[in-house]
Amino acid sequence: MAYRWKNDLTRADVTPKDSYLNRRQILTGTAGLGAIGLIGSAAAAQGGLEPNTLEEIRSYNNFYEFGTGKTDPAQNAHKMVTSPWSIKVDGMVNNPGDYALADLLDGLTVEDRIYRFRCVEAWSMVIPWNGIELADILNKVGVQSGAKYVAFETAVQPENMIGVQRRVLDFPYVEGLRLDEAMHPLTLMATGIYDEPMANQNGAPIRLVVPWKYGFKSIKSIVRITLTDRRPPISWNVANGREYGFYSNVNPTVDHPRWSQATERRIGGGLFAARQDTLMFNGYPEVASLYEGMDLTVNF
Ligand code: MTE
Repeated sequence: MAYRWKNDLTRADVTPKDSYLNRRQILTGTAGLGAIGLIGSAAAAQGGLEPNTLEEIRSYNNFYEFGTGKTDPAQNAHKMVTSPWSIKVDGMVNNPGDYALADLLDGLTVEDRIYRFRCVEAWSMVIPWNGIELADILNKVGVQSGAKYVAFETAVQPENMIGVQRRVLDFPYVEGLRLDEAMHPLTLMATGIYDEPMANQNGAPIRLVVPWKYGFKSIKSIVRITLTDRRPPISWNVANGREYGFYSNVNPTVDHPRWSQATERRIGGGLFAARQDTLMFNGYPEVASLYEGMDLTVNF
């Protein structure tokens, strides 16, 4: 069996769902993987994890297809049609095609992953995702030997997406990863949060999650996956290449040109909570080997 990444956070570290379902004790009591010893170090490194709520995960969003305000996606994303949903898989793959979502995921394992999530805007959350390792999907469609990158594309439904009508970005929203990043066991295609189907504003029915990179790499509502030997364009780099690089690994030592990336504000921490130190690779040092020999101030 392939190596499976072991979580360093458990349900006890998450944004409890209790404020709306009053299930905190159940969740804490069922903390998975027996990783109690590990939570301590993760929590200490984070300066203590402040609880968020599912409500916060669903109401403080970036999804420019639905407007640029943090509450715009929650207000507007219900208009997105998410069923039926198909994903075009093309480029350097053995089994290209237009896959119904259920067919693409059929037979693959849905896993629980509690990840830190750090936006380039210097806010963060801890989110309990449900999803499938991207590597499992890529292995299923068969990556050809010359492929070096994976490109992703978000749905465009102009009549349902008010931000698309306003052309605040050059839509469709596009993203990309190097193939070794895409194949890393941390990289997830998420279909749910807290064991509930993904809310539209969080990127229903399926979105990418790359926890060691800034949140904008985690492209939502994916309709196309392309294997290619060329580095694909990515939306924020196209919009402003001086500020947003292709890699966009979380790095407290490389500031955004307009603000520091050394610390972050944990959503739900309260008005007077101290900012937390941002961790290299967002606290996932196991990915460091992917960037060995690279100057991360140049390849930011
Ligand atoms: N995907 C699409 N298609 N459009 C977007 O505007 N915003 C990105 C990312 N994925 C975005 C997107 C940014 S900047 C962040 S921080 C995360 O989604 C936010 O994810 P969340 O709203 O689920 O917290």
